[in-house]
Amino acid sequence: MDDSLSESLGRGLRTDLSARLGIAVPVVQAPVGSAAAPGLAAAVSAAGGLGMLALTWSGAGRARDGVRAVRRRTHRPFGVNLVLDFPVDDILAVCLQETVPVVSTFWGDPASVSRRIRDAGALHMHTVGSVPEALHAAACGVDVIVAQGWEAGGHVRGTTTTMVLVPAVADAVHPIPVMAAGGIADGRGVAAALALGAQGVWLGTRFLTATQARTHPRYRERLLAAGADDTVHTRCFDGGWPGAPHRALRNTTVQRWEAAGCPPAPGRPGEGDVLTVDDEGRPHRRYEDLIPLPGMTGDVADMALYAGQSVALVRDIRPAESLVSELTAQTLDVIAGLRRTARP
Ligand SMILES: Cc1cc2nc3c(=O)[nH]c(=O)nc-3n(C[C@H](O)[C@H](O)[C@H](O)COP(=O)(O)O)c2cc1C
Repeated sequence: MDDSLSESLGRGLRTDLSARLGIAVPVVQAPVGSAAAPGLAAAVSAAGGLGMLALTWSGAGRARDGVRAVRRRTHRPFGVNLVLDFPVDDILAVCLQETVPVVSTFWGDPASVSRRIRDAGALHMHTVGSVPEALHAAACGVDVIVAQGWEAGGHVRGTTTTMVLVPAVADAVHPIPVMAAGGIADGRGVAAALALGAQGVWLGTRFLTATQARTHPRYRERLLAAGADDTVHTRCFDGGWPGAPHRALRNTTVQRWEAAGCPPAPGRPGEGDVLTVDDEGRPHRRYEDLIPLPGMTGDVADMALYAGQSVALVRDIRPAESLVSELTAQTLDVIAGLRRTARP
């Protein structure tokens, strides 16, 4: 989308936070692990939202390449995400050297990095799943709190739904801005999140079927066919990230594990099976925490198919730019409709 169009579409949706971030619309493409390709992040940012790279498992060299690849495609702001349960020191150093404007963190103590991020001039966002976690992040000096509800896809921090968590976190950390994550996939969800006190929205599952996302065609097919009840909050796919709860589609791997009574590793059904081989020839085993990526061959549908309940609203594959503009137009329509129907 050209700059003037995204600016004018976004005019009615601007929040203090979007102004602070220098983006036209307060829509963030959540860091969706390996699916968050530079092409996806750049397209979202170029369309006026905030694109994010997920760099936890990339290593410092590939992190630098990823950041530069986004910059080659757009001059707009974007962010990077790091999961603090893993050693990310070198990657953070590279991102700060590259003067990335936004650093988001998840799953760990933001105190360990907050000072460093702000001293380097970047904005620090941290994802939480509860009010106590939000208060701790606020005390650490985090600039933006991302409140992630239980219906979210991928790794899920807490047990409270977005509808309840967002206003509770917004009240608790006021005046620190809050973003809503989990369960949002269309303009109705964006408008609802803004009404709940969020200043921006953080969408993961909706962007998994963007044309620029690094998701295997079979994974996309499963997403397009799934309803909210096809997702499960589980600890099934914990190879690589033990004990971390997540939400994914219930597939054969989950069904067999549940039928066996959810035993711990290494006694799970089919433990050690090689399910797929990637385009560099690396084997991937059942229960690994990796999603199916383009170029993988084998039983891709038995891998971790992360998805939030919002998958019920994901019904097409389309460019990320068009997702951002449709979300914006829908949200403005919803807000205008509410103004028309509201009786004082
Ligand atoms: C495939 C996938 C991978 C994810 N990987 C990450 C990640 O690396 N870091 C992170 O902070 N969040 C990650 N998340 C969680 C998202 O950032 C976000 O909180 C979530 O997708 C929001 O809920 P929604 O899926 O209903 O939009 C992931 C989510 C998905 C679906």
